This record gives sequence, structure tokens and C-alpha cells, in this order.
Amino acid sequence: MGYFVVRNLYKSYGKNLVLDDINFSIEKGQVLSIIGRSGCGKTTLLRSLNYLESIDSGEVYLEDELLLSNEFPKKENDIIKKRIHYGLVFQSFNLFPQYNVYQNIELPLKLMEEKRKKDNLPSLLNKRIEEEILELLDKVGLKNKMDIYPSQLSGGQCQRVAIARAMALKPDILCFDEPTSALDPELTGEVLKVILELKVKYHLTMIIVTHEMAFAKTISDKVMFMDGGKIVDYGSPDDVFNSQNEKTKNFLKSSITLNQ
Ligand SMILES: Nc1ncnc2c1ncn2[C@@H]1O[C@H](COP(=O)(O)OP(=O)(O)O)[C@@H](O)[C@H]1O
Ligand SMILES: [Mg+2]
Repeated sequence: MGYFVVRNLYKSYGKNLVLDDINFSIEKGQVLSIIGRSGCGKTTLLRSLNYLESIDSGEVYLEDELLLSNEFPKKENDIIKKRIHYGLVFQSFNLFPQYNVYQNIELPLKLMEEKRKKDNLPSLLNKRIEEEILELLDKVGLKNKMDIYPSQLSGGQCQRVAIARAMALKPDILCFDEPTSALDPELTGEVLKVILELKVKYHLTMIIVTHEMAFAKTISDKVMFMDGGKIVDYGSPDDVFNSQNEKTKNFLKSSITLNQ
């Protein structure tokens, strides 16, 4: 079995089948990009994997451990234990405006470390919190912005803080939901560059929902094209971007026009 395996995932909202038999697997250090039109189920898939939505059926395994099934954990504590495997970066950065860059990363770290201490669990960190935060800021190129507040940062810088924060608890899988969709085109590149570095330099395992086709082509080990809740195409970037499937071809044609 692979490192991260999703099997036969189904989810409906009322009568609307939104995830229709989703299957895929990723090896450690690999990147999967998910592409597809608005409304095809990309966000719902990420939210379901992260325990923000329940599923109707299916299973998710990480290194053979069952992470997710339709038996949703009832205790908040159990959900937290599962969720800790993931880091999540949203389109809207969701930084705390009243805290500076350093504190934005420190807060969830402190809370989690305190909680683990109380539960007699080992720390997730190898170093002191201060050192961990500096290292994270270095990875996203923002060490010199530590004392700055979100309102004084560009959108690209905010997103890089959000990425550092999502990495803080050393997730096994980092998930991105359209990380550059809220950014001006000139700021998109700096965020994509940071994400690419996370793969090349740090070998993070990532699932990225994106409309940036050139980026998806470059960074991905696997690409998934979804339509109407189904996986229409899934394979290497070469396979998917040269697919003979009519739906895939039409989507790629329209997204090239939009990107120009
Ligand atoms: N909370 C919700 N309640 C009901 N329907 C929803 C909800 N969230 C999403 N949907 C529906 O699920 C489908 C997939 O949405 P979504 O996952 O957001 O797509 P995408 O991220 O690909 O644009 C859409 O038809 C959307 O209207
Ligand atoms: Mg979405």
C-alpha cells in the first residue's frame, strides 16, 4: 500500500453527490495537484480529508493507519489527533490581524505544545519554540518581517506566513486550497516559488488545489482532474496534460484562455 491512500470516498450534500468514488494514493515526498472547474468538489475533498466535513463512505490511510472513515470521531480530542497529520493553507490567509508575524506562528504552536504536555504526549518540536519559528520564517523567506503585522504585509507575504504556520506542527501532508487565487498576478509567483522550494529542498508531501496549470505541470508527481465529483483523469503531469479525454481537453483549453 502507498504512503497516503484514499479509497472509495463518497460524499453528498442532500441529493447532490459531490464526491463520487474518489481513489488516489501518494508516496512520501510526492506532490498531487487537483485541477477542475469551480464546483467540481475540490474544496469538499480537502475539507473531508481534514475532518472539516463528514464523509458518507470510504477510507483514508496514512502509513497503513486508518485516518478517516464514515465513523467520525465523537470526541474533539480524537479529531485533533487525526487532524494533526495535516497542515492546511486556504485561499484567504486567515492570519490573526492583532498579532505580528512571529506571534501568528507562535500561537497555534504554544497551544498545541501545552495541550500535548497536559496529555503526557511528547513535544512535536526538536528545538525551542523560538528557534522553530525562526527556521519556519527562513523557509518562507520572511525572517526579516517577524515584528510586522498582517495589515502591513502584501497578500503574498501573508500567504507565506500562513504556509509557515501550517508547517509549524510538522504535518505529514500539507494541503493547499487555491493558495494564489486571492493574489494579484505579480504576487502569485513568490508564493508558488516558496511552495516549489518546499518540495525540492524539504521534500514535503503536498496536495495542491490550483488553477495555475504551468505550476501544476512543474511541481506535480501526479495530477488529478475532477469533474462533477468524479476523477476524470489521474496520472503523471504528462499523461493528464496530454490526455485524449474530451472533458480534460476542454477544461485545459478553457483554462489556458483564462490564464492569458
Ligand atoms: N456546505 C455545503 N452545503 C451544500 N452544498 C455544498 C456545500 N459546500 C459545497 N457544496 C456543493 O458541493 C459542490 C462542490 O463544491 P466545492 O467542493 O466547493 O467545489 P470546488 O472547490 O471544486 O469549487 C458544489 O455543487 C457546491 O455547491
Ligand atoms: Mg474550492
